[in-house]
Order: sequence, then structure tokens, then C-alpha cells
Amino acid sequence: MAGRIPREFIDNLIARVDIVDIIDARVPLKQAGKNYQARCPFHNEKTPSFSVNREKQFYHCFGCGASGNVISFLMDYERQTFVEAVETLAETLGVDIPRESYGSENRGQESNLLPLYQVQEKAAEFYARQLREHPDAGKAREYLQTRGLNDEIISHFQIGYAPPGWRSLPTTLPADQLLASGLTISKEAGNFYDRFRDRIMFPIRDRRGRVIGFGGRVMGDETPKYLNSPETPTFKKHKEVYGLYELLATRKKPERIIVVEGYMDVIALFQHGIDYAVATLGTATSSDHAELLFRYAPEIVFCFDGDNAGRKAAWKALEASLPALREGRTSRFLMLPGSHDPDSLVREEGKEGFDLRLVEAKQLSDYLFQHLSENLDLNSIEGRSTLHQKASPIIGKLPAGVFRDMMQARLNQLSGHGKASSPSRNKSHRSAVQSVQRATSERAKPSMLRIILALLIQNPDFFPLIDAEARQELERDEKAGELAAKLFSILKERPEIHCGGIPEHFRGEAEYGLVLKLSVLEIPLSGLDARSEFSATLEKFVAQQKTMLVAQRLEWLEKKAERIGFVGLDEAEREEYRRLTRRK
Ligand code: UTP
Ligand code: MN
Repeated sequence: MAGRIPREFIDNLIARVDIVDIIDARVPLKQAGKNYQARCPFHNEKTPSFSVNREKQFYHCFGCGASGNVISFLMDYERQTFVEAVETLAETLGVDIPRESYGSENRGQESNLLPLYQVQEKAAEFYARQLREHPDAGKAREYLQTRGLNDEIISHFQIGYAPPGWRSLPTTLPADQLLASGLTISKEAGNFYDRFRDRIMFPIRDRRGRVIGFGGRVMGDETPKYLNSPETPTFKKHKEVYGLYELLATRKKPERIIVVEGYMDVIALFQHGIDYAVATLGTATSSDHAELLFRYAPEIVFCFDGDNAGRKAAWKALEASLPALREGRTSRFLMLPGSHDPDSLVREEGKEGFDLRLVEAKQLSDYLFQHLSENLDLNSIEGRSTLHQKASPIIGKLPAGVFRDMMQARLNQLSGHGKASSPSRNKSHRSAVQSVQRATSERAKPSMLRIILALLIQNPDFFPLIDAEARQELERDEKAGELAAKLFSILKERPEIHCGGIPEHFRGEAEYGLVLKLSVLEIPLSGLDARSEFSATLEKFVAQQKTMLVAQRLEWLEKKAERIGFVGLDEAEREEYRRLTRRK
């Protein structure tokens, strides 16, 4: 990992970019009064309820409730990680990201990867050019033709050709980076040769389009059929898939993603109009793969050959995808007939044939129980108990929720063991009711405390209006005191902070959601401007808190007096009692 990005840099970044420009470049906005509007990119709708506020540097959807600042937008809309979102903004402004280093072994590793991406990008361009120009590339072009690929597809996937010589890569490329990326191999120091020779080359990109590795196929029967880049700092086979970048270039929001085993499967499907397949990189499907793909589509269809190896791979994929199956995500399984792979099948049956099979792909639940019940006699106690034993740990890997409850119920029904409906279902129902109740009460008129915190987050320059006494009262509050205290210390340290920058200080903490809500909470101003409303509410709040304290103290004194008699109180307490009752 690289060092932390300094807080201050992020604050400045948010203050300097304009959320309207950043969003408008991705979701065209229309001005409507002070705000900018569009149809919400986070849910389907006909009339625009997505609104971007330039002053606050915030977006908010009145339909689905999505809201946040420019970083949240990039994270949610482009599925960028936090660091990627910061990088995007920094790139927009043309500034470099400073890193706070801790420990020398960490220093600047991430930025050291840049030359590695660059050399592989250059190599991909080189291989693509060789396919067109190299004197020996004729047979490569012919080979691609026999596999049915046209020029458009070849350029979409930037397919290339590695010439036959031992040292073909341009000498202008830095030798150390070539070696580090695995494009060359060194048997003895200072002596390099190309890893990929006389092969069809498939550049592998990460979802941001950076070349992270290569696959190379022979044109004849030599072995290995496919040679891949070794694991390098940019190439992590259990984390990356082939074709995701190319998929996202044509479809931003695919309904589903098909996972296949081979480079050529992805490409053949694409050419037949099924442009939403990716391939694992010669490895089994991992949980990281499943998590990655579910960020882009709610459904994954695993598509494997119908042979024994394919069935094994499908089961591995099933197990890997279980932990990722949260609410709203599904996975299905498509086993192909005979000796077909997706490439050969789509060529034989066309898009229509493949689509039909896709419709019939088995739901994970069916596939799971069918697979586990194979060779078991569910009419016998032995068979049913074996099923129960085998299925329980698998179902246990599912995240808690309705889907897991229903799988458990189905297992209980099949095995005749346990209750058909498990108790955790009632629990999740209860929590659903609670969250509805919570949501309803949140829509009621906001409390004074909420008004104060919301106005403060939306107008950080109001901070000096809070005096020491008010500050103490706010921080004492049971529900939001901690949030208030944290907010004050941020505002004290960074008086120039912009409203949109505040949530960044809470990201990943319990209060983050509340801070987002407060940032967009519309405060009904009772005829005053926001500043006067803020002062007035603050004053009322402090007065109320004080009255409450007086009441509490009085109650305590009265209780004590009841217990030991008024004379039992010491002089100071008696004096205090008299003063408080007078005040009351
Ligand atoms: P397959 O052997 O099923 O090949 O390998 P394929 O995809 O059908 O390829 P074509 O149609 O003959 O061109 C599936 C995947 O397994 C990995 C590659 O990622 C390949 O796409 N593989 C296969 C290797 O890494 N090395 C090999 O030698 C073979
Ligand atoms: Mn094949």
C-alpha cells in the first residue's frame, strides 16, 4: 500500500472541483433554479428527482434517497474505490497526489506501478501493430480469420501478434520494466529474451483500462496452448478478469454478466452480440471475482462446459460466490451440452440459441440442491441426513438475510429436519419494521438538534456563532453529542472547509450516514435567513437544555429531601433548592 493521502489535500480537492461539472460530464444536467437536475442515475425513473446543488457541492435524489459529495458520486456511479475517486479528481485538476509516508518499505509503491502500466500499454500497441505489419503476421491474421474474428473485434480487444524472434520488443522500452512486467525473462543478469514469441496476443486490462498482463495463444498444437503473464504487482489472477473493461466500454450498467473460462469465449460471444461476458484468467472463480462483478451487475451467470472439469469449475464458482450473495444479487449456472464451449456453441446456434439457453440457466438454489442430492436417496433417512450434513455448512456461508433463511427452509423441507421456517426470518422482519418506523419518524419535523447540526454542516462558516456554553450543551447530548464534538473539532481545525468536504471526515464511521442526511436536510426557515435561524435555534436549544437540567437537579434534591428530610440537606443544597424553585 502507498502512504495515506493527506486529509488536507482531499479537503482542498473537494473545494476546488465543481461537482456540477464532474456529474454533468457523466449524467447531463439541466439547470432548474439554483439547482441542477437529471433523471436519477441510481434508480429508474421517468421524472427527474436527482438534484445537484452547486453551493453545497452535494447531490441528492428525492426518489431513492441517494446522496453525497463528489467523491461519493464517483464511488457509486463509476464504482471507483475511494483512492480512485481522489485520483480522478486530482487528474481533473492536473495535480499530483501527495502521500504521507509511514515506514520506508511502503513509500510510493503505488506510484511505482505507473511505469509498469505504461510499458505494458506500449507493448500492447506494439503487438497490435505487428499483427498488421510484421512479415510473419500473415498466418496470425489467417488464424484469426478461421476463428471467425473480424477487424472490428480485433481492434476492440486490441488483439495482437508477438513476432517469432527472441528479442522483438522495441529496445526503446525500459529493460527493467519489461522484466518486472514479465514481458521478458532473464536467465542470467543482463540477458533478456521475450516471454511471448510467435503467439496471438490478448492484452488484459483492469476495469479502468490499464493493461495489467497478457495472454498469448499458439496457432498450432504446440504447448502450452495459452501462455499468460506471471503474477506481477499489476497482474493478480484471482482478482482480475478478462473483458470487463471492454464490456463496460459498451455497457455501463449490464443487467447480468456471464463468466466463462476462455479468452476466445468472451470474444466470440461479443462478436455475436452477447457483449457482457468476462473470463477468469486460467484460474477458478474466486470470491474476489464474484465481489468485483457484483459491483457492476446484479446477476452473474456462470457458464461452463458440460464435462467433468466444467462441473467441478461450476461448483467452485458456486462456493466462491456464496459470501457475495447479498440482497438483490443472484447467480445462475449454465452447463453447456456435449463438448461445446461458449465459443463453439454460439457459432453453431447463434445469438438466439445462446439466449434461449441463458434463459434456462439454473438458479443457484436449484443447482445447489440438485448437485448435493446426486447419488443420494432422499426417500431414506440416510440420504436425507447426508444432504443435511453437506448443505448446512454451505448455506452457512451465505450472508444473513431472507435468501439464506429461504435456503435453510428449503433444506429443512427436503431433509425433513428442523423447522420449515427458521426463527431468524422473524428477526429480519422485525428489523425491517423497525427501519420503516425509523424512516417515518425521520420524515417528521426535525428536532432542534438536527436543525442546528444540519445548518452547521451546510454552512460551516456559522461555527463561530456557537459559544462555549452552547458547545458544551450540544456535546452533552446523548444521541448526537459525539457527532457534534467531532464536527466542532473539524471546524476548529479547518475553518475554510467546504460543506461537501465534511462527510469525508466521517467516511467509514458510524456517523457517516447521518452526516450525509444532515448535509441535504432541507430546513424550513421560519421567515428568517439561515444564519438568524441558526442563532435562534441554538439559543432555544441551550435554554431548553438548561431548563431540563434544572428540572433534573430539582428532582434529585427533592428525592434526597424525601428520604432524609429537608433538614438532612446541607446548607449549600438547601440554598440551591430555594434558588431553583424560585427560578422555576
Ligand atoms: P481451454 O483449453 O478451454 O481453451 O482453456 P479455449 O478457451 O477453448 O481456447 P481455444 O478456443 O482453444 O482458443 C480455457 C482457458 O484456460 C486458460 C486460458 O485462460 C484459456 O482461455 N489456459 C488454457 C491456460 O492458461 N493455459 C493453457 O495452456 C490452456
Ligand atoms: Mn475454445
